[in-house]
Amino acid sequence: MKRSPIEVFSEWADLDKDFGMEENHKASVAHMLSYALKELNSFSFIDAGCGNGWVVRQLSKNPNCQEAIGVDGSEKMIAKAKSIDPELKFYSANLMDWTPEKKVNLVHSMEVFYYLKDPQQLLSQIHNSWLKKGGRLIIGLDFYEENTVSHNWPEQCGITIMKLFSQSQWEVFFKKAGFQLVESWRFGSKENWEGTLIVTGIK
Ligand SMILES: C[S@@+](CC[C@H](N)C(=O)[O-])C[C@H]1O[C@@H](n2cnc3c(N)ncnc32)[C@H](O)[C@@H]1O
Repeated sequence: MKRSPIEVFSEWADLDKDFGMEENHKASVAHMLSYALKELNSFSFIDAGCGNGWVVRQLSKNPNCQEAIGVDGSEKMIAKAKSIDPELKFYSANLMDWTPEKKVNLVHSMEVFYYLKDPQQLLSQIHNSWLKKGGRLIIGLDFYEENTVSHNWPEQCGITIMKLFSQSQWEVFFKKAGFQLVESWRFGSKENWEGTLIVTGIK
């Protein structure tokens, strides 16, 4: 029987599989952040679906980063993030119901958006209520239409919600949410792997 994304990732936190995700995602995340940070001097940051908080820990060490916040729907992931660094700001919340106290310059999200019931709605919320004017959202996705090798993941991982969209559909979602200068590309492609689909836009 399939289970919700939050249930499955909570189990992954118990099994320490979050460290494997960190390893698998780190090259794509490094690429996304170097792209997003090149235009920023001083900035504030949110990781939407932060898992064990590894990206927040990394960015909190960046001298230009004024504040780094992580949000995840799995209490176990957040408990783990807080146990690794109790000084940092982590929130356990469903992304669909959460709004930051202060708007930020950069929202990042790796391997999260296709687990949402309504990704278009969260894109609009991030555009309207999370980002400062001129701020950037950048997301990375390995499960998408063109990456056919990923299509069996819902069965393989036993997860109920996994929404398969194409690169152009993701771009349309960003534009509908109000993002400008929307761009998308794939990073790290090799044989039988189309790479991480990166989609970004500016408020
Ligand atoms: C594949 S993991 C990626 C974690 C992290 N971004 C990383 O790269 O290691 C997906 C994460 O999204 C979180 N998640 C999924 N749906 C969510 C939702 N609706 N609200 C908040 N978090 C959610 C899960 O709990 C999980 O930690």
